[in-house]
Amino acid sequence: MKGKINAALAALALASAAQAADGISVEFPGSNNSLMRIEGDARYLLMPVQESNDDATVRVLVDGRLEKTIYVRLAKTKVDYSVPFDLTPYRGHKVTLNILSSQGRGSVREAKEDVAWSNFALADTFDTTNTERYRPAFHHTPSYGWMNDPNGMFYDGERWHLYYQANPYGSKWQNMTWGHSSSADLVDWEHHPLAIEPDGLGAIFSGSCVVDSAGTAGFGPGAVIALYTSADASQMQSMAYSTDGGKNFTKWPGNPVLVLESEARDPNMFWHAPTNEWIMVLAHALEHEMLVFASPNLRDWTLRSSFGKGLGAQNGVWECPDLFRLPVEGEDTYKWVFLCNINPGAPFGGSGTQYFVGDFDGTTFTPDRLPDGTVPEKWMDYGKDNYAGVSWSDAPDARRTVIGWMSNWQYAAEVPTTQFRSANTLPREMGLFRGADGQVYLSCTPSPEVDVLRDRATVKASGVSAGSNGRSYRLPSANDGICEIDIDLKSEHADSVMISLSNEAGEKVDLCYKAADRTLAMDRRASGKDDFSQEFPAVTVAPLYGPDGSLSLRIFVDRSSIEVFADGGRSSMTNLVFPTQPYTTLTVKGIGGKARIENLKIYPLRALF
Ligand code: FRU
Repeated sequence: MKGKINAALAALALASAAQAADGISVEFPGSNNSLMRIEGDARYLLMPVQESNDDATVRVLVDGRLEKTIYVRLAKTKVDYSVPFDLTPYRGHKVTLNILSSQGRGSVREAKEDVAWSNFALADTFDTTNTERYRPAFHHTPSYGWMNDPNGMFYDGERWHLYYQANPYGSKWQNMTWGHSSSADLVDWEHHPLAIEPDGLGAIFSGSCVVDSAGTAGFGPGAVIALYTSADASQMQSMAYSTDGGKNFTKWPGNPVLVLESEARDPNMFWHAPTNEWIMVLAHALEHEMLVFASPNLRDWTLRSSFGKGLGAQNGVWECPDLFRLPVEGEDTYKWVFLCNINPGAPFGGSGTQYFVGDFDGTTFTPDRLPDGTVPEKWMDYGKDNYAGVSWSDAPDARRTVIGWMSNWQYAAEVPTTQFRSANTLPREMGLFRGADGQVYLSCTPSPEVDVLRDRATVKASGVSAGSNGRSYRLPSANDGICEIDIDLKSEHADSVMISLSNEAGEKVDLCYKAADRTLAMDRRASGKDDFSQEFPAVTVAPLYGPDGSLSLRIFVDRSSIEVFADGGRSSMTNLVFPTQPYTTLTVKGIGGKARIENLKIYPLRALF
């Protein structure tokens, strides 16, 4: 009898403990419910992730009180990578995780078979060394984990602050938090601790920051004020402030600051001197319009107007607005630009940034119209991979510097990277110019700081004619061939000019200039890996606004992206590529006649990662 009881007790014990690393013990009060107790002073709990799994709900209990809830794709059959959970804020306290699995386990025995349990670990370091071939070498990326929209950017007089939508617990979208990086030169980015984390009002979606020099919000002159969207069952706008230059934020205790009765997000603020008040533009996402609010103190907001309903591309939700003023090149005129990011509905599918040019009087934005009275559709970038771009506030020298998320919601979560996902575009300077049709358009050129990446040119050529056999040049080999290609062309007798980047594996990207059509196309259908999404293979086409019959290009090639700036940034095109080996050759061909390479320079670029 005693033996039987012992056996039953042993079976019970077996059913309630799983093999775990030192300092970690797991018990199973139910088949989809486990308790993990953590002992000791380690800095991180490393959590094993399997991306194909659904999220488990991880409730972090500190001395028995619910501290936070995070969502993690804990590994079931295989560990893809681990993510760190920072334990340092809870030193000296009891940390217990209550883990609710989303995939029904039939029994405790089954639950215990998950490989996660034996792969949780405690550690004092978390390795973010790059081991991935597609990690950009000179673009901003998170040190690990998922990133989407850049947001909250401001310049503090010395450093450019860049916050971004981050998932610290995996490489897919979830747990939206503001990650934080800063840079003295827009190129070399330093990563900082998470800036704003989810709370009882929800996840922290996109927003903006301003330096409140006059202290209008009541947190002292020079406080950095952030407005962001608190997103849970609904979306509301909340405030946080920083009195240490944007490192640490304190949430305003009276949050949210603005509640509407419909979905609205991504507040973007600026000081409007002529009316002496703050303006906030807010995406009225499902109404396909932007709302304009005004405030004396960044907390009390009054609706002034709405803009966009029925205008431009309307197929997607409207997100991430920005509104600013710029001079028109060569004129004595200033115009306002309204950036309206939309998803889907971009010219080549998925997400993209449309913009409107017009006037703003502190209340209403009035768009420029064509002679027939319609409002033209304009796009900031004619590639597939530049979304959610917004500009820095308080940039020096009246600069309007913008950065975009270099991906597309169609496949952002599927691109072939592992420990991190997504990069931002190069920082770009925006300007306005008047096209031959009388319309004012936005230009984007790489910020001048980017030039410091250049090494001495490895190829220099001028006055070379290129026919159907083409002229070929070697691309740099250092740092996986990352480079800048500057080329000025004349189409002369050619119907089109083909500029190709190719490698020994037969992969290539073709840029096709058609002078008669005034277009530049990029074909990435044979560029490398593309089987992760049927939306990825694509040909994108940009209208050109340069002089007739000639084209000048700056092409930036990083490990997994190509950015093309035509005619001083009058057209730009940003596309991701995933070649299985770096591109090694540049070929220029005149098709249907000879074209002429006026100038060509190829610069190897310095790798930052
Ligand atoms: C745009 C967006 C925003 C939102 C954020 C959430 O890409 O959908 O509207 O704030 O992403 O991460």
